[in-house]
Amino acid sequence: MAAEGDGHGMLAKRNSAVKSASARIDEKLPVLCRGNMSPTQLQAREVVRQLRPSRIREVANAGLGRGDILAFWFGEPDEPTPAFIREAAVAALAAEDTFYTRNLGLPELRAALAHYVGGLQRPVSEDSVAVTSSGMSALMLVTQALVGPGDRVVAVTPLWPNLVEIPQILGARVVTVSLEFSLAGWSLDLDRLLAALTPGTRALYLNSPNNPTGWVLHPEQARALLHHCRRLGIWIVGDDAYERLFYGRDDLRAAPSLLGLSDPEDRLVSTNTFSKAWLMTGWRLGWLCAPAALMADLGKLIEYNTSCAPPFIQRAALVALAQGEPLVERSRRRLLHARDRLVAGLRETPRLGVGLPEGAMYAFFRVDAMADSLAFCKDLVAREGLGLAPGIAFGPEGEGFLRWCFAARHELLDEGLERLRRHLSRG
Ligand SMILES: Cc1ncc(COP(=O)(O)O)c(C=O)c1O
Repeated sequence: MAAEGDGHGMLAKRNSAVKSASARIDEKLPVLCRGNMSPTQLQAREVVRQLRPSRIREVANAGLGRGDILAFWFGEPDEPTPAFIREAAVAALAAEDTFYTRNLGLPELRAALAHYVGGLQRPVSEDSVAVTSSGMSALMLVTQALVGPGDRVVAVTPLWPNLVEIPQILGARVVTVSLEFSLAGWSLDLDRLLAALTPGTRALYLNSPNNPTGWVLHPEQARALLHHCRRLGIWIVGDDAYERLFYGRDDLRAAPSLLGLSDPEDRLVSTNTFSKAWLMTGWRLGWLCAPAALMADLGKLIEYNTSCAPPFIQRAALVALAQGEPLVERSRRRLLHARDRLVAGLRETPRLGVGLPEGAMYAFFRVDAMADSLAFCKDLVAREGLGLAPGIAFGPEGEGFLRWCFAARHELLDEGLERLRRHLSRG
């Protein structure tokens, strides 16, 4: 008992010493550090505050709670992940595959991805492949590895906004080069892009097939870009998320890519994802291919971001790769038919101008006399219950356009077209 009493006494003494020390520190601190924070002190870094909020979300929020919305605003296939992939994840969970695993991914999956990429683009060794927790995470990791404050980065736009915002989070300055629109489709003025890739530029960000325009980089342009970037020591970040959704040539299993033309020692990182081709958006699994010399540093960054991708999801991805080719080809064909149906419908509609997208799953079309795509989309939701993405969400060069994700059943596309026509005919 006496010992207990002594303990209490010592504790009380120590507490009072701590209290008076903290009171002494408090007196010396300026008032703002003592908890009376003004609103301006409670802010994220300037570059974070400058990030654009998603305009697609803004439109989608306008339709929240309505049951009658026909939504084509997000970039997501409308089918769930097939059973054979889901069952593989369930089996891995049943086998208690629930522990942390290696930073760069399960060796089996890295080897399977190297084999897969080798069959599509060019041979890659498994030590130049890293598994990431989504394509988005792959892009963030490669940017953290390569890009720092003040670096000059060039991006080809219109573009999925994340690709422009990610380098800015890290303090880079993003210069954009816009694709050009015509009724034949979107195209790249290669000379303009080469001129923008000046000495001292740190990296080029290029997404082909492109979200939102469906534009695909042509091999001769890819060769010229590689040559130029090699000469000037510019890194290329090639976002190949949609490489399997390519409609340009039936004899190719994937869109031609910068990775396919590069050498293992090139300053090139290709990022990719299971989201689109295998219908796995919610699983959050992707990968990247990079020079092997970069892998140890990428492994450290993975440690400090997510540490590893979930092992049971990696097990499912192994099955997706091994058995998923018929699924990928079926999805591609389904999307090809959906594209043709939607584009034909849009071309029959007054005030609209649309080219044929060569890849991905979007029509990015012009609406004559539409000055404010965000207001237009909100109005479309309110009046017709039709959800499209405003062109401005993809950069200033996207203003005047709308994006329609055509990964949907034909009857839904037809109903959407009817709603859009009704809206346009109101003037
Ligand atoms: C161009 C592009 N790259 C990368 C991604 C990332 O996909 P995820 O993070 O689902 O793997 C997307 C998703 O919409 C995309 O459109």
